[in-house]
Amino acid sequence: MPRQAAPMTAPGKITDCLERLKGSGLPQRDDLIALLSCADEKELKPLFLAADARRKAAVGDVVHLRGIVEFSNYCERNCLYCGLRRVNRQLKRYRMSNREILEAAFAVKAAKIPTLVLQSGEDSFYTTEKLCSLIQSIKAETGLVVTLSLGERPRNDYHAFREAGADRYLLKHETASPSLYGRLHPDSRQENRLQCLKWLKELRYETGAGIMVGLPGQDAAVLADDILLISSLKADMAGIGPFLPHPQTPLAACPSGMVLPVLTVLALVRLACPTINLPATTALSVLHPEGRKKALAVGANVVMPDFTPPAYRRLYDLYPGRTAGSEDTELIMETLKKEIICCGRTLQVTT
Ligand code: 5AD
Ligand code: SF4
Repeated sequence: MPRQAAPMTAPGKITDCLERLKGSGLPQRDDLIALLSCADEKELKPLFLAADARRKAAVGDVVHLRGIVEFSNYCERNCLYCGLRRVNRQLKRYRMSNREILEAAFAVKAAKIPTLVLQSGEDSFYTTEKLCSLIQSIKAETGLVVTLSLGERPRNDYHAFREAGADRYLLKHETASPSLYGRLHPDSRQENRLQCLKWLKELRYETGAGIMVGLPGQDAAVLADDILLISSLKADMAGIGPFLPHPQTPLAACPSGMVLPVLTVLALVRLACPTINLPATTALSVLHPEGRKKALAVGANVVMPDFTPPAYRRLYDLYPGRTAGSEDTELIMETLKKEIICCGRTLQVTT
């Protein structure tokens, strides 16, 4: 799938588009496309400043922390980009026991982080009953806010998890383009994914959508549609990170996403959806050592430190480089706190 060259945007046009985007109301698709087509960091600077100002006005300086626990790397899907895809036989698979999951949840609580994110591949080993009882015991024993990221499930499951105490659900829409979605997901339908997102909203989950930036075949128009979709879904959160090619996938030879377009999308989402929660994604930190800082400067207000036990963490191999760096949670938290305070922001912790 060849990468489409971004059209150049005439200087001066950017300023006009940005002025319109700074107003209230739904952004115009053409304005989004113009900004997403600009590859000049200097020209984009006013966009980044506007997004940072909008973030401060709409959600303040606090950075929300979510402790993530990746409890199973089994996946029944075959998404073309992902290292967990079913046919990747080189990956050693694991499932954490309930006790291990609960211990990890307690580690999140001990770090004074109010929210736990439970993430896995699409793994039907976890029946509705198993998951409900896990959610119930985590809620009862830790009192943490529980976010789920378990992929597509029937509406009844989402309902049962909500009844069991789950508060939030992350399900990235991955791409708004029907054709690109079809090419990347041989065994799932975009229609169903969007249906799931609607169900989650109906069931009053705080709902997260999101995309990878730099996917092969993605252009500025697709990204503009992604931003408009995030807005029309009324997503409470959007995970936006670069595509990073995984060697054991069919997209191994594709170029990885780049920092600037990720920052541009983050900034535009902040302008389009002022109160949305936007994480500085791990994938962006993998792409650039200052990725987190850069994201926090253009609209991001969430960081999700990994609380998966290190032995499992390295097996949650969505994309390469995820687990480089420190394995020590305390050290990670210290570095994170320093970095957040250094950016002039405050940290959300429980007392
Ligand atoms: N690069 C970046 N993000 C990826 N994900 C999966 N594979 C990759 C990759 N190669 C992200 C997807 C998915 C989440 C579980 O991980 O956005 O929603
Ligand atoms: Fe499975 Fe999610 Fe990876 Fe797709 S992106 S293969 S559903 S873990």
